[in-house]
Amino acid sequence: MTIQEAIRERHSVRRYQEKMIPSEVRAALENSVEEVNRETGLHLQLIWEEPKAFKPGVFGYGFFHGVRNYLVLAGKESEDLEEKCGYYGEKILLEAQMLGLNSCWVGLTYRKIPGTYTLDEGERLVLVAALGYGQTAGSPHRNKPLLQLADLKENDPAWYQDGVRMALLAPTAVNQQKFHIEHKGDEVTITAGNGPFSKVDLGIVRYHFEAGAGKGSFHWK
Ligand SMILES: Cc1cc2nc3c(=O)[nH]c(=O)nc-3n(C[C@H](O)[C@H](O)[C@H](O)COP(=O)(O)O)c2cc1C
Repeated sequence: MTIQEAIRERHSVRRYQEKMIPSEVRAALENSVEEVNRETGLHLQLIWEEPKAFKPGVFGYGFFHGVRNYLVLAGKESEDLEEKCGYYGEKILLEAQMLGLNSCWVGLTYRKIPGTYTLDEGERLVLVAALGYGQTAGSPHRNKPLLQLADLKENDPAWYQDGVRMALLAPTAVNQQKFHIEHKGDEVTITAGNGPFSKVDLGIVRYHFEAGAGKGSFHWK
């Protein structure tokens, strides 16, 4: 499966099967997380077989079901912490998709369980993402009108069209899609509007755009 195929197939999944994630799949994701942490200084952590964070209760019964595995997105407090969590978290979630797993970003509807993850001094847990074998594969989200999200014109180069196409498939908090993409020649600008977790969204959308456009075709402003 290519990254573009993974992007097309990924949808938020909130109900999971009991099926365990095999050790080789876990090991592959652990490797990716370790690499990201080494390269970026983030402190992403995979939590396996831990049902408490998504136990029915505070957030009502049935919002999430059967979540026992999740990715914790944390790192040292900095101006770009949220955007980096979005960018590198989406990289891990798309790898998970390629390994046959489903996922869902979760900013609010989970509980922080002390002892399951660690935070070093100055670090903050930004959000988590559920992982596992979904009961279904989810379904495509609605998009805002294209021209509200990007300055796409018919004669724009293929790389820009492909980048925007992949960006539209990015998950955003409450499907808010508060981003805007513009370009001048091969210089691309992406801005985040106001909204919950909109900086995390920005990182996710940036990752999707790069996957569509190809990193060598353009540069970010
Ligand atoms: C940063 C972020 C935070 C999110 N937080 C939650 C959440 O707390 N609870 C939830 O059920 N879904 C959450 N979602 C999932 C979004 O609702 C979902 O991505 C959006 O509706 C688009 O649907 P899709 O992921 O199927 O494309 C979150 C998504 C993102 C990107």
